Amino acid sequence: MPKVLVIYYSRSGNTEAMAQLIAKAIEEEDVETACKKVEDASIDELLDVDGLVVGSPTYYGTMAAEIKKFLEDSVKYHGKLDGKVGAAFSSAGVTGHETTVISILEALLIHGMIVQGDPRGHHYGATSLGKPSSEQDAQVCKRFGQRVAQLVKRVIGQEG
Ligand SMILES: Cc1cc2nc3c(=O)[nH]c(=O)nc-3n(C[C@H](O)[C@H](O)[C@H](O)COP(=O)(O)O)c2cc1C
Repeated sequence: MPKVLVIYYSRSGNTEAMAQLIAKAIEEEDVETACKKVEDASIDELLDVDGLVVGSPTYYGTMAAEIKKFLEDSVKYHGKLDGKVGAAFSSAGVTGHETTVISILEALLIHGMIVQGDPRGHHYGATSLGKPSSEQDAQVCKRFGQRVAQLVKRVIGQEG
């Protein structure tokens, strides 16, 4: 079964709520999913998964230091993550969420990961203002998770 790791940092629960919605949507596509706070995740887990989804609150228009540290530590496996699927999401207070998502994607692309945009939904990755409390926010997370799962299955050749 394909495997995806969702890691996130969240101080006040908003990014965590997104992570849970996204992980549920991935699981519903029959993809094994682990959803962890970045503090509880190990770099070594990256070798075991087909896709990595990274979530951060928007801090000054970019990712939180905790996520940056995880990505810097991932240099341990530089070259080994080539061809896995990568994706990113963010919660902001007002704005800056898209630059935050892009900042994470830059690192995932440097790892050689495959990143899919979205021509109709949130182009770069799921974003939310504050907690994803509306039905529309939930749909954004669900669509994002579904698309990540479907891409993982295509990449590893287990399309249903
Ligand atoms: C240090 C810090 C920097 C922040 N910078 C921004 C920002 O640049 N733009 C913005 O809209 N919100 C900013 N915020 C608000 C958070 O992005 C927002 O509250 C987010 O939903 C928090 O997510 P969390 O509940 O997962 O921690 C900042 C918050 C903190 C603590």
